[in-house]
Amino acid sequence: MDRTQHVVLAGRDLCRSFQGLRAVDGMSLSLAQGELLGLIGPNGAGKTTMFNMLAGSLLPSSGQIEVMGTNVTTEGAEKRLGRGLGRTFQIPRPFARMTVLENVLCGAQKQCGESVFGAAFRIGASRRDEAQALEKARHIIDFLLLTHLIDQPASVLSGGQRKLLELARILMADPKVILLDEPAAGVNPSLLEQIMERITALNAQGVSILLIEHNMDMMARLCTRVVVMALGRELTQGTPGSVIGDPGVMQAYLGDTE
Ligand SMILES: Nc1ncnc2c1ncn2[C@@H]1O[C@H](COP(=O)(O)OP(=O)(O)OP(=O)(O)O)[C@@H](O)[C@H]1O
Ligand SMILES: [Mg+2]
Repeated sequence: MDRTQHVVLAGRDLCRSFQGLRAVDGMSLSLAQGELLGLIGPNGAGKTTMFNMLAGSLLPSSGQIEVMGTNVTTEGAEKRLGRGLGRTFQIPRPFARMTVLENVLCGAQKQCGESVFGAAFRIGASRRDEAQALEKARHIIDFLLLTHLIDQPASVLSGGQRKLLELARILMADPKVILLDEPAAGVNPSLLEQIMERITALNAQGVSILLIEHNMDMMARLCTRVVVMALGRELTQGTPGSVIGDPGVMQAYLGDTE
């Protein structure tokens, strides 16, 4: 990465263990303004644990995290979202009985539950705020091509549509940086094209994106730089073409199948 570029997200020497297992073991990573960076590695390499620490849902046992140059290491996920850092989960869990629109509107709320949603929304926001949030939610739903499902309960959505719904919820907070954990996993090929195209469009609007993905074709098409993790550390990094052809990377993936 060009060091003169503005760094929007940085993790330095991050470590995190689970019952003695070093899931992330001294990993550093920087995302530049406007970059679309890929994070790959075999199952169990520590990618999601890294994401959880960067997003604030898991505290590192050591190391430091900066968002737009501010040290946020001890801040929680909600505070980091307020700073412009949003993330999606590897397994999306929308409120199943709520509609797509209601789920997206939840992104505008500090807290949201299926039963308390209506009351919380009406009490917590003025009518004008409510109308603005509604307009914004509809705009985001259009942008993510979910308009035909807007009044459907989230339970009827396919895996790929749930991933788009989760992204829609995050976009309500106007994030400047988005962490996407396996947006293509379990998604059918036509929806996959849509998701890739939407990720590119968001990036073109200036949103910096860090993407975990096992789909190498997707990585090659979207990312200019890819970081490879194995055993909780950075194994190597480079262009998608260079890391895919790297014998060390191949060995790390082969070791995974043993
Ligand atoms: N909450 C947890 N408790 C115990 N062990 C965990 C926990 N979260 C992750 N681990 C372990 O930490 C290691 C790294 O897991 P992580 O989910 O970060 O990997 P990953 O690279 O995202 O893998 P995948 O590609 O399968 O999603 C794994 O050995 C995993 O079993
Ligand atoms: Mg993972």
